[in-house]
Amino acid sequence: MKVLVTGGMGYIGSHTIVDLINNGFDVISVDNFSRSTTEMQFGIEAIVSKKITNYNIDLTDLDATKNIFKNHSDIQGIIHFAAYKAVGESVEKPQLYYHNNIVSLINILQCVEEFNVPYFVFSSSCTVYGNPDEVCVTEATPMKLAASPYGATKQMGERIITDFIAAHQNKTAVLLRYFNPVGAHPSAKIGELPIGRPMNLVPAITQCAIGKIPSLTVFGNDYNTRDGSCIRDYIHVCDIAHAHTLALQYLMNKKNTSNCEIYNLGTGTGVTVFEAINAFEKVSNIKLNYTIGPKRSGDVESIYANNNLAKQLLGWQTQYTIEEMMQTAWTWEQAIAKA
Ligand code: UD1
Repeated sequence: MKVLVTGGMGYIGSHTIVDLINNGFDVISVDNFSRSTTEMQFGIEAIVSKKITNYNIDLTDLDATKNIFKNHSDIQGIIHFAAYKAVGESVEKPQLYYHNNIVSLINILQCVEEFNVPYFVFSSSCTVYGNPDEVCVTEATPMKLAASPYGATKQMGERIITDFIAAHQNKTAVLLRYFNPVGAHPSAKIGELPIGRPMNLVPAITQCAIGKIPSLTVFGNDYNTRDGSCIRDYIHVCDIAHAHTLALQYLMNKKNTSNCEIYNLGTGTGVTVFEAINAFEKVSNIKLNYTIGPKRSGDVESIYANNNLAKQLLGWQTQYTIEEMMQTAWTWEQAIAKA
């Protein structure tokens, strides 16, 4: 089955392409490298030992997007990753985020309709829960106001797809809500490439360890948690990637009970910032130079996933421990330092 992966050269998209190919899918990618580099394409090709077709086009250009489907009338599934994802940038440039993330989604759905693509998987986020009333969230936990324009684009994206699927009864979709994707492919040929100073914890840890940034700041140590730092559900990017393959297979095999289903993708275990730092120090044998700073505005105190649905219905099992997440992230950081 031919699958179009949008944002295929990004962090999660690249790992998903590898997983899809390893599971027998025929994959084409569309990515304009606005937040990635051609190195990711070479990395994927090195892992799977074959060339990947990537269309370097902007999905906000409807005609260019349609041309991909005209060239590939046999596309049966779409996994839609392409979106901007930096929370801080979205606060500074909301129009950019609403335009890019929403228009590209609308254009892709236009193609789903016109070219009759039956299966759709969407890259959503636990950010849709906002600041929830319960720390262990299920898919039924009510969404609160999104804390950023980025989060709002994910909430809107889910709503747009839900409405679209309701109006197109011959199409099915899965919306995947990622918790905190971290780590890299064990080959260290693909991984996360933060633009500028890293905002997320794990790239900040590895960049601090390698000396790219002078120190690490822990944003707050007086939260109401077991050690005072925030709790998140870190999940290995390869585990996230494999869930997309399972979601497509689930739709193709008509295992779904409704036309649009939602799944949390987390390990189900909360890890504090200090525990994440300790796990890194243990696997790398490096003492991190960190200081305690003020709380970061907009941070949720604690959130982790109830992942029972993905386990039971998609047959998903996470494979990687927090130490393995840190080890692969560290091996990747060292690989890019050498390149
Ligand atoms: C958030 C979103 C997530 C989104 C991601 C994109 C939520 C719950 N999560 O993740 O959906 O995909 O942004 O960027 O809305 N930290 C430090 N020092 C640092 C960096 C981070 O202490 O230098 C702490 C943060 O305060 C937080 C934890 O580490 O407690 C994780 O932060 P981060 O990696 O930025 O992810 P989230 O903010 O959880």
